[in-house]
Amino acid sequence: MVKESDFAWAEEPVPVPPAGGFLVRNLMLAFDPAMRGWIEDRPSYLPPVGIGEVMRGSTVGQVVSSEHPGFAAGDLVQGMLGWQDWVAFGPGAPFVSKLPKGASPTLALGVLGTTGVTAYFGLLDVGRPKAGETVVVSGAAGATGSVAAQIARIEGCRVIGIAGGPAKCAWLTGECGLDAAIDYKREDVGRRLGELCPRGIDVFFDNVGGAILDAALARIALRARVVLCGGISRYNEERPSPGPSNYLNLVVQRARMEGFIVLDYAARFGEAVQRLAQWVAEGRIAWRADVQHGLENAPRTFLRLFRGENFGRQLLEIASPPL
Ligand SMILES: NC(=O)c1ccc[n+]([C@@H]2O[C@H](COP(=O)([O-])OP(=O)(O)OC[C@H]3O[C@@H](n4cnc5c(N)ncnc54)[C@H](OP(=O)(O)O)[C@@H]3O)[C@@H](O)[C@H]2O)c1
Repeated sequence: MVKESDFAWAEEPVPVPPAGGFLVRNLMLAFDPAMRGWIEDRPSYLPPVGIGEVMRGSTVGQVVSSEHPGFAAGDLVQGMLGWQDWVAFGPGAPFVSKLPKGASPTLALGVLGTTGVTAYFGLLDVGRPKAGETVVVSGAAGATGSVAAQIARIEGCRVIGIAGGPAKCAWLTGECGLDAAIDYKREDVGRRLGELCPRGIDVFFDNVGGAILDAALARIALRARVVLCGGISRYNEERPSPGPSNYLNLVVQRARMEGFIVLDYAARFGEAVQRLAQWVAEGRIAWRADVQHGLENAPRTFLRLFRGENFGRQLLEIASPPL
């Protein structure tokens, strides 16, 4: 299990941008379970964060001073600016995007950010649900899972969420409008899936892996789609444990199990953000943010994800807008 002591606090002078550049102050930092993989020295879709480097992380910041023609003091920007207060950019094209005027940093890092977009493409492009089908989502009360589950509901599917604890399950069947929720900490997931999905599971959107994936695989319907979004129950394991024993049901049911990485859809993010923003504006997608405070609490806040302490998108406020 990742520990607070795996991170070190370091102080240095506020960086000075080169001529033609600009200075950004980070305001809000988002936490992703994937960060656990980023600090592991093994090949992955991004290089690992090196020892002593600033921890990678997605933030919204504010431009504090600028000589750059594309950015003015006061602009809100979004990018992988890391677990730090200040970032200086040179005169070239920076790896940040400007938020539209009036945009909410909380929404930009959540439903309209990576987690919402992941849910959108994972469910619609990989899962391809059809109206009337049964969709099951694990990690369903989380930032990604809750949006995936509600998109399935909007698409006319019967939706069952799996989450930890009565409060999260009540939110899923209440505000989120799911047909049912299973509390995996108190209920037998396999038995409940059997009761709730008498004709099997058509789409399983998995954020958790392990025993929950195995229980779902045992109950997939003919031509089911199993979407591997993530497997948080395994991220802290020192060595990969054996795979799901029920995988041969994929053969019996002529089903498909497919992983994806949201970055592959970068060229289509605009499409997803537009539809998600519309659904949020129409009140068709409920969402929650769990906002902690103070950059010094970054490691502690990160650990909340693995203890299920976050209820909604895990964010950390680093500073309030200074301008
Ligand atoms: N493929 C991609 O491109 C991509 C992109 C973004 C995210 N993801 C994946 O999406 C998943 C959700 O990420 P998120 O940012 O939205 O986080 P999140 O779901 O908001 O937070 C993580 C949640 O995982 C659950 N959890 C933690 N340990 C668990 C365990 N051992 N067993 C079962 N559940 C556990 C907890 O909920 P409970 O209280 O319900 O246990 C916790 O609240 C992760 O697997 C992440 O890696 C994939």
